[in-house]
Amino acid sequence: CGCGMLVFILSCIIALLSAAVIGLAAGTGIESQRANDATSKISALRTPTASSTTKPGGASETPLPPGLIDDGCADNPESVSGSKYTSFSLFGGLTFQRFCNMDTPYQPLLSLFTADFQACMDSCASYTKYSPTFFGNNVNTTCAAVSFVPAWSSKLNASSAGSPGNCYLKPGPQNESALVVPSIDVACHAAVLMNAS
Ligand SMILES: *[C@@H]1O[C@H](CO)[C@@H](O)[C@H](O)[C@H]1NC(C)=O
Ligand SMILES: *[C@@H]1O[C@H](CO)[C@@H](O)[C@H](O)[C@H]1NC(C)=O
Ligand SMILES: *[C@@H]1O[C@H](CO)[C@@H](O)[C@H](O)[C@H]1NC(C)=O
Repeated sequence: CGCGMLVFILSCIIALLSAAVIGLAAGTGIESQRANDATSKISALRTPTASSTTKPGGASETPLPPGLIDDGCADNPESVSGSKYTSFSLFGGLTFQRFCNMDTPYQPLLSLFTADFQACMDSCASYTKYSPTFFGNNVNTTCAAVSFVPAWSSKLNASSAGSPGNCYLKPGPQNESALVVPSIDVACHAAVLMNAS
């Protein structure tokens, strides 16, 4: 019978459309759930950094606004210069004195990319903790100062400047009077290990 077949075909079309609508609803529901999860994860990550001033490991640090990698040297060099930073405790908790817009003398012992100025000083302390174990204790296994160039945190910037890193570990002797005015066209900040000259 012709009408029986027509009813059957229409039923099939309705069934297919229903399935498509249900599938679409389920799909978009999952996507918006994922978006909600991502948003709450991001705010969970942000909340503690905004409020906490103590960090694990016992390193004493000046609390920094988010995104600031030069310890405030660009914004307020006078208040940062001369101030102290105690590096990560498991690297010996060595104390550094920071000098904004200054460079340290000598060829680097090691050049590397660090997340920020403080991590550069931590890397200097780490070098001094581990290098003597393998290479003996001498002037080349002791990091006495660092130079940190924030603009070279971008590897694109570093590469176009021909610079192998944003953090340079330097041998001693180092002290405040040996620091030099940077001769590069971007900001450079120095930190000297205290009692290391
Ligand atoms: C430290 O390294 C410099 C440069 O390579 C070298 O001239 C000097 O002899 C080294 N000093 C020691 C004690 O190894
Ligand atoms: C890269 O260099 C430019 C020009 O000096 C500077 O404006 C920019 O902030 C640098 N990028 C980073 C990540 O520091
Ligand atoms: C300061 O550092 C310079 C350069 O390394 C060195 O010649 C000088 O003896 C140091 N001064 C002191 C007081 O340690």
